[in-house]
Amino acid sequence: MDPVSTFYTGPGELVAAIGSALEAAGLERAALRPADLAPVDEFHIRGRAATLEVCEALDLTRGARVIDLGSGLGGPARTLAETRGCTVTGIDLTPEFCEAAAVLSEWTGMEGLTRFLAGDATATGLPAGTFDAALTVHVAMNIADKPALYREAFRVLRPGGRFVVYDVLQGAGGDVRYPVPWADDPSTSHLATPEQMRSLLADAGFDILSEVDSSEESLAWFRQMRARIEHDGPPPVTFAAFLGEAFGQMAANQVANLAEHRIRTVMYTCRRPS
Ligand SMILES: C[S@@+](CC[C@H](N)C(=O)[O-])C[C@H]1O[C@@H](n2cnc3c(N)ncnc32)[C@H](O)[C@@H]1O
Repeated sequence: MDPVSTFYTGPGELVAAIGSALEAAGLERAALRPADLAPVDEFHIRGRAATLEVCEALDLTRGARVIDLGSGLGGPARTLAETRGCTVTGIDLTPEFCEAAAVLSEWTGMEGLTRFLAGDATATGLPAGTFDAALTVHVAMNIADKPALYREAFRVLRPGGRFVVYDVLQGAGGDVRYPVPWADDPSTSHLATPEQMRSLLADAGFDILSEVDSSEESLAWFRQMRARIEHDGPPPVTFAAFLGEAFGQMAANQVANLAEHRIRTVMYTCRRPS
């Protein structure tokens, strides 16, 4: 298996683990909404709140066809589909995540608006120009060949369509402290700087409409999450379901990485010219 997928593939039956954790917490399967799964399926800094910002930036209309490059467990796809009435195709390198994403969509009644395909976001094999909008959230940190990723986003998008990137970037504060929630060590971590991102997106052909740095909010989010867990205990199911016990150390490192400006979180809203 690809070392990136190996990193994300957990030790056991992911869907069963999520199902029994929800059951133990008294959450009824039949009444589950996408937001109930956010602590485990919005796998990026600032969780569902950040996805709602991505939704806003994508400027979607009902029925729009959207592609999510690196869709993980499908949280962002379901949030988009539920709040905007669009259809979302997710592509992800980790087969276990794609299988779990499909089941979680069934549990939340979103199976008609979302589908998940196992594949590489740098070469999806999907027809050119078929999507009205595209997004990628916390994925490029694992991808060395970023020109291929952004070229692919441009290729599958129709002219005039929006592309939103919300990612972790290299900060000016020095090397990242590992492990982090996307890598155990630098061998599968490839962070671009904001300057490199601007060139990468422009070289792929995109117009950059806006660039929003949310690093301060990200640091506050991690601190609030840790304070909440200390006070109330963890939510029924968290990223530890697949990251294992190392998740505690990863979260602590993220606080340090943000506080020491080793990483930044930045959202780019782009448009494929008409
Ligand atoms: C931190 S998770 C983010 C998942 C999702 N975007 C979210 O925000 O909930 C990173 C995801 O990127 C996927 N990924 C990494 N490299 C990829 C590639 N080349 N093609 C497709 N997916 C990839 C991983 O399998 C993992 O699911």
